[in-house]
Amino acid sequence: MTTTTRLPAAFRRFRRLRRSEALRRLVAETRLDPRDFVYPLFVTHGLGVRNEIESMPGQYQLSLDQLAAEARELRELRIPAVLLFGLPAAKDDAGSEAYARDGIVQQAARALKDAYPDLCVICDVCLCEYTSHGHCGVLSQSKGGIVTTAGEVDNDATLELLARTAVSQAEAGADMVAPSDMMDGHTAALRAALDDAGFGMTPVMAYAAKFASAFYGPFRVAAESAPAFGDRRGYQMDPPNAREALREIEAEVAEGADIVMVKPALAYLDVLSQARQRFDAPLAAYNVSGEYAMIKAAARNGWIDGPKATLELLTGIKRAGADIIITYHAKEAARSLSETA
Ligand code: PBG
Repeated sequence: MTTTTRLPAAFRRFRRLRRSEALRRLVAETRLDPRDFVYPLFVTHGLGVRNEIESMPGQYQLSLDQLAAEARELRELRIPAVLLFGLPAAKDDAGSEAYARDGIVQQAARALKDAYPDLCVICDVCLCEYTSHGHCGVLSQSKGGIVTTAGEVDNDATLELLARTAVSQAEAGADMVAPSDMMDGHTAALRAALDDAGFGMTPVMAYAAKFASAFYGPFRVAAESAPAFGDRRGYQMDPPNAREALREIEAEVAEGADIVMVKPALAYLDVLSQARQRFDAPLAAYNVSGEYAMIKAAARNGWIDGPKATLELLTGIKRAGADIIITYHAKEAARSLSETA
């Protein structure tokens, strides 16, 4: 007789609960649920437009007439929320279509609320899709004889435009606004402007810990928002900094953020997990475009099982502490979950 067979049964306790799917489901600590998903949408002008984004297979730039069908599909899949990004008809230095009454996102918010009143329509608040230079704010100029650094994004001038953007989105029926610009003080600025305009009940989901990431590449193609010069490291966070991320989140909570976000998700699960332990505010994770593209590319090559890898990553994001997962995988993950349910 070998030593192994004489081990007390207690030493074999872990495998007992892994013997069947039913047992595994009973003891599962984390459960993905489509009701935690937010699905990002790229909205564009035109009619009958459904342009697949090459680096994001299965994701499209959609014109307004496509949104009702999209909304129906989301309802069937029990996905409660969308996050809207817009492709303007024209761009300028001040990003004016971001806060135009009839801007593309404002029109999309109206169309979606008409088609599916219970859908939670979240509008991304940023200028990068709307500025001719592609930065997330307006560039600073010499002011009153004081010359600020040329080409730098002017924090406070940008805040005013972001606040106008958020109010215009709320007027169009947005249920929530989500500033992704990474200007200091953006949540306070949006909160004050929304309150003044009579939208005291419109929550702010702040992209609080948003890192300057290489994983936004496919999004910038999809949203046509790559900066024409320089990069975003002057306003987005530096990847090595986790403690700073917690200070950013703390500041956003103090400014009145209703939900805080960590972005991207996969390279920052430690930040997500620490944020979960430190803060009680609802926590969102943004599973970004590059993370989506990696899975799709590997799956297309037959190198990984795409649907399984997707559920595993989304489970990891939830296990790390996310209450809300913003993901391009939302629809397919909801379908896989209903098949396995
Ligand atoms: C706009 C914005 C970006 C993303 C969300 N909002 C791009 C960026 O900061 O360059 C990225 C989302 C993704 O990659 O899926 N500032």
